[in-house]
Amino acid sequence: MAIQISHRAKAIKPSPTLTVSNLAKQMKAEGIDVINFGVGEPDFNTPNYIKAAAIKAINDNFTRYTESSGIIELRKAISAKLKRDNGLDCDPNDILVSPGAKASITAILLTICDPRDEILIPSPYWVSYTSLVEMVDAFPILLPTRAASNFKISAEQLDEALKSLSNPKALILNSPNNPTGSIYKRKELEQIAEVCLKYDIMIISDEIYEKLIYDGQEHMSIASISDEVRERTIVINGVSKAYAMTGWRLGYAAGSTEIIKRAARIQSHTTSCVNSITQKAAVVALNECDDSIAKMRDEFQKRRNFLVDELNKIPNVKCRLPRGAFYAMPNIAYYLHNNQLGIKNCVKICEYLLQEYKVAIVPGSAFGADKYVRFSYATSMENIKEGLKRFKKGLINSLR
Ligand SMILES: Cc1ncc(COP(=O)(O)O)c(C=O)c1O
Repeated sequence: MAIQISHRAKAIKPSPTLTVSNLAKQMKAEGIDVINFGVGEPDFNTPNYIKAAAIKAINDNFTRYTESSGIIELRKAISAKLKRDNGLDCDPNDILVSPGAKASITAILLTICDPRDEILIPSPYWVSYTSLVEMVDAFPILLPTRAASNFKISAEQLDEALKSLSNPKALILNSPNNPTGSIYKRKELEQIAEVCLKYDIMIISDEIYEKLIYDGQEHMSIASISDEVRERTIVINGVSKAYAMTGWRLGYAAGSTEIIKRAARIQSHTTSCVNSITQKAAVVALNECDDSIAKMRDEFQKRRNFLVDELNKIPNVKCRLPRGAFYAMPNIAYYLHNNQLGIKNCVKICEYLLQEYKVAIVPGSAFGADKYVRFSYATSMENIKEGLKRFKKGLINSLR
């Protein structure tokens, strides 16, 4: 029998971040001493008060299917969080709890996109946005940004791009950003929102790194600008990054009643609901904060400062100071142009660094940034120090 694969499945490439991470894990399992800068998750443990809530849920036999959009207790906790942290009034019925923010974004794209719709995505971008957009038969429209503008789009650029599109449906904004660490300020968000209003497009605002912001910077949700903007914005967030809960799988989408209701229907036929135990744990994560989150953030800030300082000491490597998330993205163009090994792109240089120097870094091309590589500093200071030595040696030796 001929195996039949859909055009959709054929178009989807494996996530390059997971590929690097898995390869590094495999090498480690084989006893090879690899330093892994590929990971997209905090290396801290889920705080004890959250774990205790999960254990209690199991002992209470809270182990059955729940309401598809999430237990009301959790949606109330998210609603309170959105008010407290983001100044948003959001009814618990306008919230969809999903198995991860990734699943929330998927449900929202399935809800709002028709084939050939255009979804605008500032580039560099998180790897899954383009794949998810393609999966719903829409077109990702990339908006290139430059290091000099802190990898942020401007309102003028968005306006210019929208002029030439025929079916623009939404802008996906990710602040703080993966991979660049950039954060949009109030003024910038106001100007961007104005353009979205002018062209009547929606905004999907992925705020998953909200709690990981440094140097006293503040996170602002674009949805909080005005009622008009809130109506067209779906806020995406979750517990993965803020509470070191990546494996628990819980994210959420908050926005217009009509969209959330329909996205919940889609979810009811796909994943049914989020694991009941995780939901109970998330209620406690959101309602009862201890100091573990602040400690984790302070540690990330220390590592970021060290990593970026050291990267900038490597001849001809340039790295901007990221303001949020836990990634640094140095420009290594010099080593692509001048190396003596025939390595012409960032994928090849990452392969070389992994194979020859046992250091795993994600090629920037995974995020639409060919001259860059991405380091995750969600790893110990000791690993960062050793990994940097290997990275530097690998780059310098590639010139010989
Ligand atoms: C920008 C961004 N959004 C969403 C996610 C997915 O988060 P979750 O674990 O909640 O699916 C990630 C994970 O790496 C991310 O970097």
